[in-house]
Amino acid sequence: MSVQPSDVVESVAYRLLDWYDRSARDLPWRVPPGSEAIPDPYRVWLAEVMLQQTTVAAVAGYFRSFTKRWPSVFDLAAADDADVMAAWAGLGYYARARNLLACARAVVRDHGGLFPDEEARLRALPGIGDYTAASVAAIAFGRPSVVIDANIERVMARHRLIETPLPAAKREIRAALAPLVPEARPGDFAQALMDLGATICTPRAPACAICPLMADCRARGRGDIERLPVKAPKKAKPLRHGVAYWIEEKGRLWLVRRPEKGMLGGMRALPGSEWTDTPPPESGVVHVDHSFTHFDLRLTLVRSKSPLAAAEGEWWPISDLDAAGLPTLYRKLVDKMREITA
Ligand code: ADE
Repeated sequence: MSVQPSDVVESVAYRLLDWYDRSARDLPWRVPPGSEAIPDPYRVWLAEVMLQQTTVAAVAGYFRSFTKRWPSVFDLAAADDADVMAAWAGLGYYARARNLLACARAVVRDHGGLFPDEEARLRALPGIGDYTAASVAAIAFGRPSVVIDANIERVMARHRLIETPLPAAKREIRAALAPLVPEARPGDFAQALMDLGATICTPRAPACAICPLMADCRARGRGDIERLPVKAPKKAKPLRHGVAYWIEEKGRLWLVRRPEKGMLGGMRALPGSEWTDTPPPESGVVHVDHSFTHFDLRLTLVRSKSPLAAAEGEWWPISDLDAAGLPTLYRKLVDKMREITA
């Protein structure tokens, strides 16, 4: 890895921060640049956990409702699991919600309610991986950690013309970024790179003409900037099948809770079969297709009579299904069912 002259290193951070001071997005978890306010580690952590695998637009509403309902880590730690899972419904990757609670409780139990202010000790908490530890350390505590998300990967791959396909390129990206992280304002630096990736250095049609890093961007001028970052071809996902049962009685629907372990663990759901590799024998009224990280699922909805006597579940008013906190997969089924019965 070539070492860059220090004036280039300093000027990247300088130009980025100067741009950020003028162009930072106004986001509900953020302390705006130039403000005297001190970031609240709880809010920073909550936002960074929510933002993994999810867009800023999708997270903003959830962030507002979580912080209104649970304004501090103490409030969240004391919350009912079921309430938190239901409030998370729609954000996906439900293991994150379970870890969120476990982390809040660990911070209260083991740290007196104060988040540790170092990357390594943050990483020791439930659900906090490399990305979250680095971003919370930088944004909440001003630590010069190396924060890398998908936006930052794209900016760096282009600026430094890194042609190695992702995910193998991650090491090169880290090595290129580490010396650029400034001692002052590392949290704003990380968020400036995120904003640059989200608003200027976009996947398609990047706005290079107004980019603060244009002058030394190595991909710029080559005409094929959209090719970067190169990504290794994705493996085809297997297709799984399952049946869900629509059991309705007196305007109410029979709902169950999924087992704690496994996909959508602990979430409310329609009762159903195991998900398997072969299509079910039943032909249903509607089906939905849903994509998980490691497989696609085709779920067929079958109308059924009463639940098994021994089954655990609850009758939920169909007019109030929005409050049940169903994950997106089941919401899609309910919406389709409403369409055909409307
Ligand atoms: N994506 C992840 N974390 C973010 C942040 N702090 N600001 C903007 N986008 C983000």
